[in-house]
Amino acid sequence: MAGQRPTIIQGGMGVGVSSWRLAKSVSQTGQLGVVSGTALDGILARRLQDGDPGGHARRALAHFPSPAMAQRILDAYFLEGGRPPGKPYRPHPTLTITPSRPAVELALTGNFVEVWLAKEGHDGVVGINFLEKIQIATLSAALGAMLAGVDYVLMGAGIPKEIPRMLTDFAAGAPAHLTIDVADQTRTHTAVLDPVEYLGADLPALRRPSFLAIISVHVLAGYLARDPEIRPDGFVVEGPVAGGHSAPPRGKMVLDETGQPVYSAKDEADLAKMVALGLPFWLAGGYGTPERVAEALAAGAEGVQCGTIFALASESGLTADLRQHIIDDVRAGTLHVRNDPLASPTGFPFKVAELDDTLSEPAVYAARPRICDLGYLREPAERPDGSLVYRCASEPEHMYVKKGGDAAATAGRVCLCNSLFANIGFPQRRSSGFVEPAAVTLGQDLVGAARLLAERPDGFGGAEAVAWLLGNAPAA
Ligand SMILES: Cc1cc2nc3c(=O)[nH]c(=O)nc-3n(C[C@H](O)[C@H](O)[C@H](O)COP(=O)(O)O)c2cc1C
Repeated sequence: MAGQRPTIIQGGMGVGVSSWRLAKSVSQTGQLGVVSGTALDGILARRLQDGDPGGHARRALAHFPSPAMAQRILDAYFLEGGRPPGKPYRPHPTLTITPSRPAVELALTGNFVEVWLAKEGHDGVVGINFLEKIQIATLSAALGAMLAGVDYVLMGAGIPKEIPRMLTDFAAGAPAHLTIDVADQTRTHTAVLDPVEYLGADLPALRRPSFLAIISVHVLAGYLARDPEIRPDGFVVEGPVAGGHSAPPRGKMVLDETGQPVYSAKDEADLAKMVALGLPFWLAGGYGTPERVAEALAAGAEGVQCGTIFALASESGLTADLRQHIIDDVRAGTLHVRNDPLASPTGFPFKVAELDDTLSEPAVYAARPRICDLGYLREPAERPDGSLVYRCASEPEHMYVKKGGDAAATAGRVCLCNSLFANIGFPQRRSSGFVEPAAVTLGQDLVGAARLLAERPDGFGGAEAVAWLLGNAPAA
């Protein structure tokens, strides 16, 4: 791994927005490109069913340490020339606390492929982003990424205190464990993954990546930094305007007249206290301009993590149409991004860009039949008899209630799984002909993106965004 720490982290953006192409372009500048580690099993399955245009996934799979496992994935999903028109994607297995072997193999290979491609052909550093909230995916995703030599793991949306230990165990080739939060639990639930069980004699020597915890307030950083067992190697301090999910306001949630959470000074990290912890940290959420980068450095940060500006770069995983639509609205100054307290079934506030023909429009939302078939955001719950059930507040209400969920929790939820797959060109097409609509997240601070777009009438790539943020961009 390159010894120097990055000034710019191109933040992980799921699902597939921070694609291997984007992360690679940023990493090649000497900064940190981060692939999203969310749903890479499904992305690989769908990419292969679309015929793997360009052969990238197959090229990466040819380097997977277990050729037999790579072949099983190709046999299960690859369709030469892609699916016949109108044919839905076939389902792929969902992960659980005790997942099936095919589910784990798809996750291992999916994460390997994305990191391997981001690292191909250069020696820059590459990270992968996970969400603590999606706990049951973490073990297989992290091991898959480590098999490809990932340099950094970044994780937010929760308190990632077991991740340092997990990375250390995997690096030793040993089984790793994670405690899984289960609703209505009467006992502890633990997920385990033994690399030898899956890779056997093919298991290569693994290197422990650095771990950055994404947090919103210094109090959490202080808690994690205190104990060497749970201490990360650094922090990303993310404020409430950042794209994607955000921490809810501290204390009781209060909504303003537009129904958005109200944040106050209590939600701001004390940067002097961050400096005092002695671990490197980066600032995120509205830091996408050269002036904000300079401000972060002056405050004692190593640099910044940016998302929104990179989501609009030419290598982002968003479909070309959707990206152009967003760029047009940003240029026109008409794009509004709402912090929606209900949209995400995780219960975390989620930024939703208000764009025509996406689920942010009430008519598009109302026309979508509720269905939960990807299941990444399902939470496990214990039934009274002790057995486990998996439920998502975006699934059909009667099913959620049957699994012990509260009907009120289903209101206003968006199926992020299906819509985020649609954003990157893998929408499910139902046998009825219904095509899953998109739903876009972006940060609420569009200043950096608007300024760079004004300077670059033809748009920009990830490397150009880095140069601009660092103040070394050549004039357009
Ligand atoms: C499209 C999009 C998707 C995102 N998805 C994730 C994610 O999956 N995990 C995560 O930790 N952060 C996610 N983020 C947050 C970014 O990694 C980054 O911290 C944030 O966007 C920084 O704020 P900015 O948008 O003002 O630059 C996402 C941001 C965007 C714009």
